[in-house]
Amino acid sequence: MSLQKILLLGSTGSIGTSTIQCVRRFKDSFSVSGMAASRNVDRLIDQIIEFSPSSVYISDPADAKKITDRFGDSIKVYCGESGLESLVNDTDYDILLNAIVGAAGLRSTIAALKRNKKVALANKESLVVGGEYITSLLNQGYGSLVPVDSEHSAILQCLAGVKDSTIESLILTASGGPFRNRSKEDFLSITPADALNHPTWSMGKKITIDSATLMNKGFEVIEAHHLFKLPYKQLRVWIHPQSIIHSLVEFHDGAILAQLGLPDMELPIQYALSYPERLPMHGKRLSLPQIRQLDFFDPDLDRFPCLKLCIDAGTAGGTAPVVVNAANEVAVEAFLENKIAFNDIPGLVAFALDNHQVHPADNLEIIEETDRSVRLTILNKYLSRR
Ligand SMILES: NC(=O)c1ccc[n+]([C@@H]2O[C@H](COP(=O)([O-])OP(=O)(O)OC[C@H]3O[C@@H](n4cnc5c(N)ncnc54)[C@H](OP(=O)(O)O)[C@@H]3O)[C@@H](O)[C@H]2O)c1
Repeated sequence: MSLQKILLLGSTGSIGTSTIQCVRRFKDSFSVSGMAASRNVDRLIDQIIEFSPSSVYISDPADAKKITDRFGDSIKVYCGESGLESLVNDTDYDILLNAIVGAAGLRSTIAALKRNKKVALANKESLVVGGEYITSLLNQGYGSLVPVDSEHSAILQCLAGVKDSTIESLILTASGGPFRNRSKEDFLSITPADALNHPTWSMGKKITIDSATLMNKGFEVIEAHHLFKLPYKQLRVWIHPQSIIHSLVEFHDGAILAQLGLPDMELPIQYALSYPERLPMHGKRLSLPQIRQLDFFDPDLDRFPCLKLCIDAGTAGGTAPVVVNAANEVAVEAFLENKIAFNDIPGLVAFALDNHQVHPADNLEIIEETDRSVRLTILNKYLSRR
């Protein structure tokens, strides 16, 4: 395959550093022409030394100056509120790998699609809050979208060469997180440290908390709805604690195809970058005789209401998923700062939805205005009603 230039957003995070591993393995296939990070300027500087990108973004102007002082005119440095979008609009690249966390990633996804770029999407929040708008851009022929999430990558791999009309359902698997076996009463004593202790995946803090509440799986159901264009009644979730089967496709003749692998994001990242080609990867191999047992359960929506909140919001459409995402980002931050309890995360999200009148979300202005107004007020409103 010809050399592909990557603009890597979130280069200092969990997905960002795994992406860098893939680039190191395939120096003839991939190069990094731009990078973006938020706070970790030291790691970004190390990455600049290794990959010599032409442009970078860092949130804080003081950190941007640090980079300019060090590298001079050899690199263009963006910062501040509009800097990220300028990086996406100005840099020369073939693939945008968006691994920023939260709705902060939406504008970059949209800007890259409008430039007709391929977007390898880890930032699932882009599709949760902007799914309808992004779908309309793709339908108009702008750019292309390839999932990085292991579940959606699994489905994409199972769907190679398949006729859409033969699909009966998509089944997303979930590890169940660290509280899969905890009783509802014991949820009251969950601390941030407990919730950050994921049993099978090593990830950034926000997605780790979302995995513990199953909000992450709810987001992935919404993501699957937009990526694979299926109604919510054809999307299912199975709890699978070993995280070996990454997702499954059920066909109208009853056959089920699954994609299996060790729980490691490097494979889905590499597949998204090389898609539709498949590149080799050396190292550890999955051995089912060693694992011996794979378990599956239906999710418990009583103990994990976030999953149902997402499916209901996705089904309602419009601004409802924007509200779920914004309220969840506020709730996760407040939980990590010990301002609210673990159970308050679904409580706050449900409260935000109850207090919202759903509108169509077919443009960026309405999405961003809804996101902003929820973030500004929801925590105080929720706390003051108790
Ligand atoms: N981790 C996984 O295994 C996994 C799997 C599937 C999907 N995802 C999705 O991938 C995304 C990233 O997850 P992660 O686990 O890699 O998160 P993470 O480790 O917290 O990394 C987030 C990255 O985004 C950067 N960032 C955050 N806000 C930014 C902003 N406003 N502007 C520019 N950069 C910003 C951070 O920079 P600093 O570090 O410099 O602050 C960091 O590089 C999330 O949407 C997540 O749901 C993750």
